[in-house]
Amino acid sequence: QSAQRYQNIRVETRERVGLITLDRPKALNALNAQTMRETVAAVQAFDADRGIGTILLTGSERAFAAGADIKEMASQDYADVYLADWFADWDGFTRVRKPIVAAVSGYALGGGCELAMMCDVLIAADTAQFGQPEIDLGVLPGMGGSQRLTRAVGKAKAMDMILTGRRMDAAEAERSGLVSRVVPADELLDRALEVAATISTRSLPAALAAKEAVNAAFETTLAQGVLFERRAFHAAFATEDQKEGMAAFAQKRQAEFKHR
Ligand code: HXC
Repeated sequence: QSAQRYQNIRVETRERVGLITLDRPKALNALNAQTMRETVAAVQAFDADRGIGTILLTGSERAFAAGADIKEMASQDYADVYLADWFADWDGFTRVRKPIVAAVSGYALGGGCELAMMCDVLIAADTAQFGQPEIDLGVLPGMGGSQRLTRAVGKAKAMDMILTGRRMDAAEAERSGLVSRVVPADELLDRALEVAATISTRSLPAALAAKEAVNAAFETTLAQGVLFERRAFHAAFATEDQKEGMAAFAQKRQAEFKHR
């Protein structure tokens, strides 16, 4: 995809990883409408690109994103935000089928925390700070925070964070299950790229189905989720990648998946 189309993000590829960097440093990557449109367009373009297996989303050292853009929101009234259906475009981000890794350094507040939670694998620098401070602005989370944070860390911690607006550091975020790994800040991008690259060498149909199956855990009952998984597992036996993966194991060699 052509990088020239974007003002507030940078887009590049590293082999089969599509890398998106939020790049609005003067506003700590605050997610204004333009940044939202560009980010959603960029993930959708990578999702459609057969050369890409995994997407990596990151920000700057100081901020993954400091939230939705407060200056842009401040003067809006109910009819404005309702008619424009503010934040609904982010649904396009959550419809992406390829795995999305988030590499979070510095502030991930409000919409920034919510955007990180829309990703599939969250890797935090030891400098990362997560929070939903909307309560301090007289509002509440609006990009899914009350739902995704609650599912990620449970009711008690979600209530604590959302009602007081306090921040969680990286250690607490890992302890609470909000992020999967914490790494030293100066290694963040390399380590996240390794994770994304690893995922992108696997069978893409298997990876997409695995993402769908994990996400089903949030949308359905246990019995239906287990059935969904079992059928997806059965379907994997229709792929050449299943034959290759299992043959490679028997022959003690690295699998070369065809559908990447
Ligand atoms: C617009 C923002 C911004 C934001 C920072 N900036 N966050 N602009 N929207 N969310 C701008 C500042 O205005 C400032 O611009 C510049 O970025 C640097 O920020 P400073 O405040 O000077 O930096 P610092 O003192 O280091 O403090 C960093 C910070 C603070 C703690 C992250 O900026 C902050 O509290 N930001 C707001 C965090 C927040 O409330 N996020 C939730 C937003 S609501 P100038 O031009 O002054 O130099 C949200 C809800 C979504 O996301 C859905 C419900 C509405």
